[in-house]
Amino acid sequence: MTLNPKLAKLLNEQINNEMSSSYVYLAMSAWFEQTPYSGFAQWMFNQSREETMHALKFYQYVVDRDAAVVLQPIAKPKADFKSPIDVFEHSLKQEQKVTQQINDLFEVAEQVKDHASKNLLLWFLNEQMEEEKSVKDMLDRLKLAGNDPASLLVLDREAAQRKGATESQEADASH
Ligand code: FEO
Repeated sequence: MTLNPKLAKLLNEQINNEMSSSYVYLAMSAWFEQTPYSGFAQWMFNQSREETMHALKFYQYVVDRDAAVVLQPIAKPKADFKSPIDVFEHSLKQEQKVTQQINDLFEVAEQVKDHASKNLLLWFLNEQMEEEKSVKDMLDRLKLAGNDPASLLVLDREAAQRKGATESQEADASH
């Protein structure tokens, strides 16, 4: 079944959105590298890699559906932040934005009755739910920790352990 042109355009845009997201997280990781929080730097680095994987998943899907891939420039990401909380607040907004994009894509896939695309997008919607949840959980705990260095270091250590959603799903699938 030929990919509907509107859907193909939006899927192509999503390749760019995910690559942009990867860049946003890489900038966050770089910001943390200039602070004592190496665990948060690791978290953001892992998240950046996840987003690249998402972009590649959309890329492969467009290729597999025999549609043309059209790549666009990636915008310069924000590089200055006030605090770890500030970074995680931006991360949550970033994830909420992506969730909205995937929701919109799903609606178009539904309108044009493209069930294969709906299936792909459902995977992404689940992924988004997990991502939003883990960012929100960390943000809540950062707020509790406030300015207490000992609590912040505990959270930083935990952040280094976090596996990306894709990674943990892959691990689950191999069991
Ligand atoms: Fe791939 Fe977290 O958006």
